[in-house]
Amino acid sequence: MDALRRMEYRGYDSAGIALVGPDNTIHASKKAGKLVNLEAELDESPLPEANLGIGHTRWATHGAPSDANAHPHVSASGRVALIHNGIIENFAGLRAELEASGVGFRSQTDSEVAAHLVGREVDNGLGLADALRTVSQRLEGAFTLVAVDRDEPGLLVASRRNSPLVVGVGEGEMFVASDVAAFIEHTREAVEMGQDEVVEVTASGYRVTDFDGNETQGKPYHVDWDLSAAEKGGYDWFMRKEIHEQPHAVADTLLGRFDADHRLTLDEIRISETELRAIDKIVVVACGTAYYAGLVAKYAIEHWTRVACEVEIASEFRYRDPIITPRTLVVTISQSGETADTLMAVRHAREQGAKVIAICNTNGSTIPRESDAVLYTHAGPEIGVASTKGFLTQMAACYLLGLYLAQVRGTKYGDEIALVMTELETMPAKIQAVLDNAEAVHALARELVDEKSVLFLGRHVGYPVALEGALKLKEIAYLHAEGFPAGELKHGPIALVEEGLPIFVIVPPQGRDQLHDKVLSNIQEVRARGARTIVLVEEGDTEVEPYADEVIRLPKASTLLQPLLATVPLQIFACEVATLKGYDVDQPRNLAKSVTVE
Ligand code: G6P
Repeated sequence: MDALRRMEYRGYDSAGIALVGPDNTIHASKKAGKLVNLEAELDESPLPEANLGIGHTRWATHGAPSDANAHPHVSASGRVALIHNGIIENFAGLRAELEASGVGFRSQTDSEVAAHLVGREVDNGLGLADALRTVSQRLEGAFTLVAVDRDEPGLLVASRRNSPLVVGVGEGEMFVASDVAAFIEHTREAVEMGQDEVVEVTASGYRVTDFDGNETQGKPYHVDWDLSAAEKGGYDWFMRKEIHEQPHAVADTLLGRFDADHRLTLDEIRISETELRAIDKIVVVACGTAYYAGLVAKYAIEHWTRVACEVEIASEFRYRDPIITPRTLVVTISQSGETADTLMAVRHAREQGAKVIAICNTNGSTIPRESDAVLYTHAGPEIGVASTKGFLTQMAACYLLGLYLAQVRGTKYGDEIALVMTELETMPAKIQAVLDNAEAVHALARELVDEKSVLFLGRHVGYPVALEGALKLKEIAYLHAEGFPAGELKHGPIALVEEGLPIFVIVPPQGRDQLHDKVLSNIQEVRARGARTIVLVEEGDTEVEPYADEVIRLPKASTLLQPLLATVPLQIFACEVATLKGYDVDQPRNLAKSVTVE
């Protein structure tokens, strides 16, 4: 149950467990809703003690969150219990085949077919591991499957294709999970599983094979963050804790990036500098908040490298037949490194011969493993479903990547790069200053908690910040919110403006930036129509005050780096509004943190 609690951020609309008892019986319990429902059920009807068990928290794909659709699923004869993460794309045909042979289904899930298929193989005499290998070969799509057989009470088997699976190696105890957070309390020794592999686990060890049964090597590694990183540490929400960790997280992302010759380095790079110099286009692919980090990256990368940079939503990317050549550099951004849409984009890009650089927060996850180079964000585990430190560190990593490419391609002199690096290094302290002066944002949240709609405006890099501010409010406060380019408002969305509508405006730095005055005009346009303007502006800029109903001050920064500061009050605002509304900030409805299905 502790492990499931740590995994709940990945899905929380139903949960279940199954134990293999010493009596060679499977004891299962499952419940719709969050884990607390299952806990209550187990308090009422406890299961017998056992040495082997599996558990699952679900994010519904096929079939509503109900007790019946919760995992584990048990095979027709009752021998096998199985859990599944992913989507089995050919489940309809398999289900028809099983039904034709007389199998009755108890759920609407795609997952149940896997339980029956494995069950049928063991009923026909195969051992559990062979049964899982055989069935895994028949399944299409994405799956991590974990299965137990009541007749082999000392064995657990798991297989993976396109979905994550790690093994935890303890002393006299073993674990498998989607994420090391599940077992970090018991062991820091983990083993990464490759694509299309099966692991057989007993209390004393493990064995990895491919789907044909040939022995392969998992990749052992040591997890270097400790349990406290995955706990709330006195905060009411993980999200609030993670917002406050941002100065540290950004500093860690920037740490040690210069080598002895004052040249920037990435974490793992398997692309030659010659190849990087030949690049004629950069395409950034990501989902959700990471996509907005990509939008910020575009401004920095084009400005510093003079290479055309496109940004695309990963789920749209491969299906429009994008123009990708061996001279395209694809940059993926993903906190989890497991987002299926982004992973599929990586594979598509590499099939076209492109090189892929991954910006990622999760060591050993699938996307960096399948990429040609990696820049880790080193933010530590992010548990709150709505990304915060993930976003800031992704932006920081994008700046590093932009500078790195400028260095390799010679579009910036070394001292210019050093100047930006020096400014980047001042950012953690400035982020801390924003956090220390957030009382006005809290007050604003109290005033605006009952609003029905909020708009966010920005230009240039302020535009992605506006989008992110709106997304945070939608995700956790369920409040209608939109982000717009401030200059575009007058071409349509300004019709939404009515008396009292709160509009956040991110103002670019004064003086150094011609956009500053344009944004002031945009503020006046909405104010003239009755909007309540909440203006994020750098300290010392007083020009904007006559047009602002509320002013949120930011430390000074150059235009390109301002998103590292301007985002923070918007995160705090969303967190505060959601808290005041009494919502579960860390586990907002309908969402999951890492979406491992397309
Ligand atoms: C999910 C989360 C978002 C996140 C997105 C991308 O939809 O709810 O908060 O931004 O996935 O996640 P990634 O792990 O790829 O950065």
